[in-house]
Amino acid sequence: MERILVIGCSGQIGSELTLELRKMYGDSNVVATDIRPAPADILESGPFEILDVLDAGKLQLVCEHEKITQIYHLAAILSGNAEKRPMPSWDINMHSLFNVLEITKALKLKKIFWPSSIAVFGPTTPRMNTPQYTIMEPNTVYGISKLAGERWIEYYYQKYGIDTRSLRYPGLISYKTEAGGGTTDYAVEIFYEAIRRKKYTCFLSSETALPMMFMPDAIKATVDLMEADSSRLSLHSSYNVAGICFTPHALGMEIKKHIPDFEITYEPDFRQVIADSWPDRIDDNVARNDWGLTYEYDLPKMTEVMITEIRKKLG
Ligand code: NAD
Ligand code: SER
Repeated sequence: MERILVIGCSGQIGSELTLELRKMYGDSNVVATDIRPAPADILESGPFEILDVLDAGKLQLVCEHEKITQIYHLAAILSGNAEKRPMPSWDINMHSLFNVLEITKALKLKKIFWPSSIAVFGPTTPRMNTPQYTIMEPNTVYGISKLAGERWIEYYYQKYGIDTRSLRYPGLISYKTEAGGGTTDYAVEIFYEAIRRKKYTCFLSSETALPMMFMPDAIKATVDLMEADSSRLSLHSSYNVAGICFTPHALGMEIKKHIPDFEITYEPDFRQVIADSWPDRIDDNVARNDWGLTYEYDLPKMTEVMITEIRKKLG
């Protein structure tokens, strides 16, 4: 029987992934943790504990007490916020990963999931159809921590045989929980502002293309990777996943189909430089060939669901 620990269950991904894992493995077998309270549906459906992943002693106690077999480590400081506080963000992103890797080794856990990001790429990376293996010179604190993390999870796989699995998520779009301080957050905020005020001032320029993914596709990719037989995986660093690619202008036009008087204006801030260093579109053929990555949502389908669900949420 699998016993799963989710670290960072209250965030944008954790708040949805935890519930999916509970459906798959049983509510009581998925122990949700975070440094802040969890959403009501997580609190009501299964175990939750306040846990600071930087506290290695408590992490080990929870893993032993709960007889954990797999960890999903989602706690991190995202790109925009990490640029504001470089050293504490580096510490959280790296120190937390080392705690998880060391406990996985000490307790001989079966496998771990740790997400990487398109932020591992940098201004010298080819921007179109960015290959799995390419030039990687990230120039943000977050991107450097993700690239270092990729190298470390591969190292623990090679050196200690730990089954590490990871995806380079693009910007994730969802309606349940607010985005956590990244450069791609505009693609979530825009829906709330379109519905509330029929206008949005975007912090990226109109033609800034970035890879994005709707949360149901991200959750499916995550559990498909974690469920894949290890013999199918050609790498234990992190897989490219492409999702959909669009600009703020294209997203604004799609929203206008539902809210005709919606207006978008542009005031790029410090996040423009970060976005300019990331790819437009990713090549995810290695993930497709290894373990069958697929997507359901394109831009129109995702926009329709976002508008319907946020309208319901805002009453
Ligand atoms: P988020 O900021 O929404 O959630 C992170 C959660 O971690 C928060 O609930 C926070 O309270 C918790 N946390 C922070 N410090 C902690 C600590 N010391 N101990 C325990 N919990 C702590 O982030 P997210 O968007 O859900 O991202 C999850 C992971 O996916 C991160 O590793 C992130 O880098 C990665 N990722 C996210 C995206 C995206 O677009 N959301 C894209 C690429 C990669
Ligand atoms: N969405 C994330 C960010 O913008 C990408 O990792 O930080």
